[in-house]
Amino acid sequence: MDELRADRWEGEEAAALAARWGAADVHLFARVGSTNEVARRLATSGAPDGTVVLAEEQTAGRGRAGRSWSSPPGRGLWLSLLLRPGSEGLPLLPLLTGLVAARALDPFLPGSPVAIKWPNDLLVDGRKLGGILAEASWEGGATRALVVGVGLNLLQERADFPAELREHATSVRIEAGTGPPRLEVADRLVPALLRRLRGGSELTAAELAELRERDALRGTLVAVTDPHSGAPVAEGAAEGIDADGALLLRDAAGTVHRVRSGTVRATGAAVEGR
Ligand code: BTN
Repeated sequence: MDELRADRWEGEEAAALAARWGAADVHLFARVGSTNEVARRLATSGAPDGTVVLAEEQTAGRGRAGRSWSSPPGRGLWLSLLLRPGSEGLPLLPLLTGLVAARALDPFLPGSPVAIKWPNDLLVDGRKLGGILAEASWEGGATRALVVGVGLNLLQERADFPAELREHATSVRIEAGTGPPRLEVADRLVPALLRRLRGGSELTAAELAELRERDALRGTLVAVTDPHSGAPVAEGAAEGIDADGALLLRDAAGTVHRVRSGTVRATGAAVEGR
């Protein structure tokens, strides 16, 4: 198996990281297929809520809709968090995680706002800086565990991205000219994420306002397709994100659609009056 454990990450032992982040446990890997896959496996063997899996490198990093996620060694933050939120799940998990991750990155990107592209992308200037992959594992109709994977591009140079991603992907180093210390990003991200995801599954008014500020789609024309079948879901002008996390799309006839899941593609220019 393509899996190699590590004693330390950025010079810190797993137990020390767990203590400073308030995590139940931290599992460190020098190399792993996918941290989400490991977290799911740990869930099956009874690992507690608040378990973190962190890898230096992923050899089979997963993105949404069956895509792969480029995770070269030492260049980013590749981690997954195991949650046991009860049977209701957390429908807002990707958006809440995106908000916390955007805030964690803000200080390292002065003058370059981190935008959220519904439901799970972090963008800077239209280029992908990070992504979130939330997955549930079910047992007997109830959620046994949720795994939220976060991939943040921190230290890559353009040449570190596969050729087909170079146009569309970016990193903090590319945007800011200097790479952030990964431990500092993780210190800002992990405890805040644990706190927020334990702190209720509704968007607060302040979070909704922040989402509106960070919304990369608002005022653009987009098409949403089913991530698995590719079938069209809705098309229209993005009008924001609702309190339950739905993307609001106004179609050509003026009807507003509430889109709960899907893959979004921009189809045209900005809509007037944004
Ligand atoms: C996407 O934008 O498509 C989601 C990307 C999610 C990537 C992260 S990296 C850590 C975790 N492990 C994975 O295999 N994927 C997520």
